Amino acid sequence: MTFETNITKMFGIKHPIFSAAMGPFYTTDLCVAVSEAGGLGVLSHTSIERGANIGKETTDVQIDESTMRRMGIDVVAAMKKNMEYVVEHTDKPFGFNIRTSRNEIQAPKMCEEIPKFIMENQRIRDQCIYALTSAGSSKILPASKTFQELKKKSEIKHFHVAPALWLADKCVDSGVDGMVVTGGEGGGHQSYEKVATLILLQQVHKKYPDFPIIACGGFATGAGLAAALAMGAGGIAMGSRFIASEDSEFHENYKNVVPPAKASDTILVTGALGPIRLWKNEYSLHHGLVADKEAKMAEEQALRTMSREDYIKELIESSNAYLAAYRGDTNSGAVLLGQSIGIIDKIESVSKIINDMVSEAETLLKSAVGRIK
Ligand SMILES: Cc1cc2nc3c(=O)[nH]c(=O)nc-3n(C[C@H](O)[C@H](O)[C@H](O)COP(=O)(O)O)c2cc1C
Repeated sequence: MTFETNITKMFGIKHPIFSAAMGPFYTTDLCVAVSEAGGLGVLSHTSIERGANIGKETTDVQIDESTMRRMGIDVVAAMKKNMEYVVEHTDKPFGFNIRTSRNEIQAPKMCEEIPKFIMENQRIRDQCIYALTSAGSSKILPASKTFQELKKKSEIKHFHVAPALWLADKCVDSGVDGMVVTGGEGGGHQSYEKVATLILLQQVHKKYPDFPIIACGGFATGAGLAAALAMGAGGIAMGSRFIASEDSEFHENYKNVVPPAKASDTILVTGALGPIRLWKNEYSLHHGLVADKEAKMAEEQALRTMSREDYIKELIESSNAYLAAYRGDTNSGAVLLGQSIGIIDKIESVSKIINDMVSEAETLLKSAVGRIK
């Protein structure tokens, strides 16, 4: 059994299920597993290539090009290596994420170099058909000359994350092919808007009824998939559900946070790019949440007026919280997870998760149709 939607048709995939972007963690094996299971796997924006030793000196912090090179941080090189790995391990379609935040100083370079790399590699060009931008402007990738050329020569589609209706308007203005409509209950990177997926999906679908939409934030069950499809989305993307899978590269301690957790066990705090939803632990409970983007910019300004050494020290300290989570320190690490952890009760293989969700959604939708008299 399969669902046929505008999204499954657009990407030629069996099931309307995507993995969410989860930088700064690498999600290379997860990407392969999701694509192999009939969904569409996504490579995250990270400076860490699959299998790399997560040393103290490796960070995802964007300081400046030369400091980053000295520290061995290269998101472009990591993305290329991760793409090569994916096509060695699956012949199915996959995608990648670039965070276009003003604080991601390598984002414009990624938007030029990654499309060029894809274009020059026949196999990657055939399989890498989904470019997802997020956390910043939806205009940077379409403005890239190499991306324009790639679009003409391949099947690649550009989607951008829309966490509020006014940001969905901006996506449409930028000429994106579709949107990932992401509500505030989701894990990790969030917007200042804090609108729940249930509301946001209705708003965006009402205003853009024919626009391709992938719903994201809070999905982990067949019931969620059924609801998203019934509300006009053509597919869903999941982060937390796939973290707690046998195939994901997340540390066992990170995965084991998920099944016992309750939906109320997460909290929004301010991260380097804006609000992030984290599991409640020693780290997150000692971090505040700024009220809005203006407050965040004022905070960044204060950071910039520090001495250069203090500034870099501050940035490295915050990135170390991700590295701690990477290494399985779930107390002092930044453990990004969404409220959906409250509805995930088992760590299973990606293929079982996808197959069970699809068959549960089918049962629920048939039963709902049967109730129409
Ligand atoms: C560990 C983690 C890292 C994330 N990093 C990113 C990122 O780099 N870029 C992005 O657009 N969203 C990021 N997000 C948000 C996810 O793409 C997605 O919106 C979220 O996981 C959806 O909620 P869910 O966890 O309930 O499925 C991250 C989420 C998690 C859990």
